[in-house]
Amino acid sequence: MVCREHYPTQGATLRGEKTIHDFGGKVVFVSGATSGIGWSVAKAFQANGARVVGTGRDQDRLAMLAQEIDLAFTMDVTDSQSVDIALSAAQDVVGPIDILVNNAGIGLFREWDSTDVSDVQRVMDVNMMGVVRLTKAVLPGMIARGHGTIVQVASVAARRGYPQHTAYCASKHALLGWSRALRKEVAPKGVGVTVVCPPAVDTPFFARAGAPESMIKPAAMISADRVASALMDAVTRNQRCRIVGRRARLLDRIDRFAPSAMDQLQRWKHR
Ligand SMILES: NC(=O)c1ccc[n+]([C@@H]2O[C@H](COP(=O)([O-])OP(=O)(O)OC[C@H]3O[C@@H](n4cnc5c(N)ncnc54)[C@H](OP(=O)(O)O)[C@@H]3O)[C@@H](O)[C@H]2O)c1
Repeated sequence: MVCREHYPTQGATLRGEKTIHDFGGKVVFVSGATSGIGWSVAKAFQANGARVVGTGRDQDRLAMLAQEIDLAFTMDVTDSQSVDIALSAAQDVVGPIDILVNNAGIGLFREWDSTDVSDVQRVMDVNMMGVVRLTKAVLPGMIARGHGTIVQVASVAARRGYPQHTAYCASKHALLGWSRALRKEVAPKGVGVTVVCPPAVDTPFFARAGAPESMIKPAAMISADRVASALMDAVTRNQRCRIVGRRARLLDRIDRFAPSAMDQLQRWKHR
C-alpha cells in the first residue's frame, strides 16, 4: 500500500499556499502550540474542520490556547513521561491522532566557540530528540490503522548552514535526515512524513534564541499564518519537503547548484 492523500482540498483559491483544505473530523496534535508557528498551525487546522490538541509548557499561553482550539495540554518534549501523559489524555478525549505536527523547537544564536557541548545537547534534545519521543509514541497507532501523517517543522537551516547557528543547524539537519529515512520506511504502511522548511518567521523565536535586537527584522520575515497555510497544503499533497515561500525556494536552488555563490551571498549579508 502506498501513502495516500487523505485530505481533500475544497474551493481552491489562487496558489497552493492559499488553498482551503478540508480536515473535517481529523484529529491533529500540535507540539509547541503556545506561540508563533504552532499557535497559527493549531488555529488553522481548527478553522479547517479538524479537532485540534495543542501542547506546550507556558501555563498562561495554554489557558489562552484552550479558548481557540478543542484541547490544550501541558507537555514538555524533553520528558518522555510528560509526552506519554499528554498523548494518552488527549486520545482519551478526541480519539486516535491522524496528523502529528512536531513543531516545538528552540534556537540558539551563538558563535561556535561560545557554544558549549551542553548547549548543543539542549538544542538537540528539543529539536531532534523531542521529535523522536513524540513520533515514537504516535506512529505505532498510525501504522496499525494504516493511515496518518507526521509533519516536522524543520527550517531552511535543515538544508543550509548559517553562521552563529551551529547547534540549531545540526538539530534541523538531523531532523531532516531522520525524517527522509522514516518516510521511506512508513510510506508502504500508509503513513506520510512531510518536512516543512520555513525561512525567517515573525515570532518570538529569535529573541528567545538570544539574537541581538539589531538582527531581528520583522519586515524581512514571513508570517506564522503563511507557514500554517503552506503546512496544510503540504500535508494535503503528501509532500516530502516543503520550502515555504518563493524567495526561500530560489535560495535553496542556488545553494544546491552553486554553493560558492551562496557562500558569497551569506558573507556579504553577515559583513
Ligand atoms: N521563527 C522562525 O524564523 C523559524 C524559522 C524556521 C523554523 N522555525 C521552527 O518553527 C518551530 C516553532 O518556532 P516559532 O518560530 O514558532 O518559535 P516560538 O514562538 O518561540 O515557539 C516555540 C514553541 O515551542 C515550544 N517549546 C519550546 N521548548 C519546548 C519543550 N521543551 N517542550 C515543549 N514545547 C516546547 C514553546 O512552548 P512553551 O514555551 O510553552 O513550552 C513554543 O510554543 C521551531 O521548531 C523552530 O525551529 C522557526
